[in-house]
Amino acid sequence: MTEQDQATAKGGRRIQEAPIHGPEGFEGMRRAGRLTAEALDILMEATVPGVTTDRLDRLAFEFAMDHGAYPASLFYRGYSKSICTSINHVVCHGIPNDKPLREGDIINLDCCLILDGWHGDSSRMAYVGEVPRKAARLCEITYEALMRGVAAVKPGGSTVDIARAIQTYAEAERCSVVRDFCGHGLGRTYHDAPTILHYVEASYDVPLKPGQFFTIEPMINLGRPAVKVLSDGWTAVTRDRSLSAQFEHTVAVTETGVEIFTVSPKGLHQPGLLQPVNPAA
Ligand code: MF3
Ligand code: CO
Repeated sequence: MTEQDQATAKGGRRIQEAPIHGPEGFEGMRRAGRLTAEALDILMEATVPGVTTDRLDRLAFEFAMDHGAYPASLFYRGYSKSICTSINHVVCHGIPNDKPLREGDIINLDCCLILDGWHGDSSRMAYVGEVPRKAARLCEITYEALMRGVAAVKPGGSTVDIARAIQTYAEAERCSVVRDFCGHGLGRTYHDAPTILHYVEASYDVPLKPGQFFTIEPMINLGRPAVKVLSDGWTAVTRDRSLSAQFEHTVAVTETGVEIFTVSPKGLHQPGLLQPVNPAA
């Protein structure tokens, strides 16, 4: 979610009214989430040195078309690509282009597919060939931060439980949590209530109830949390140019806990399953 959306959610009526979805919503989100996860599996496997992010974007678009889906980011608020590709110190919303990926890059692949009206939103980090140990460590910490946030989801809990789980862990690992972007409710709309911050902010405490759908998508930096948006209006980078990583799942609050809609059919969640880490770098 962008800062602009977040501001809308902050000031708007929607923040109080996180929609509660029924069985039909769960079914729709399972299908949309699974399709998004399949798309990411394909993109992860295609992420190798020399490939361009435009090529990955095209693969995502064609996958969507082949499966009766539509990429939510395409023509969203003037964005003109099917995925976001955020490399190294790019925090989020990197725009695919014709530059080849280089060995040692880390890249976030962010994809949201709309299937039968339902939105499945997810992102993962991929390693381009062998990556430096510190880059791999950041990705591992960020994945663990996401999963700790997911594990904090339960009926009767609150959105601050998610934020606390993520922030406490990331900062204990001497990393920082980006403040300028957040997770968001979604379903038949892309960005809805509740707003999911990844750092503790008491004024955002929304109670968790079965049937709520939202993303958790922490952005974690090796350096300071501050970001700036480049003149293209989208690309967000760390101000200190330190490495940044992000993982995102779409989840539901259930009667007993949490359901993840965007589980990888191939188990390709954690980075490093496809590529080795370069211990010498
Ligand atoms: N996962 C991001 C979000 O929910 C993806 C944004 S796509 C873009 O905001 F089109 F806004 F760039
Ligand atoms: Co999102």
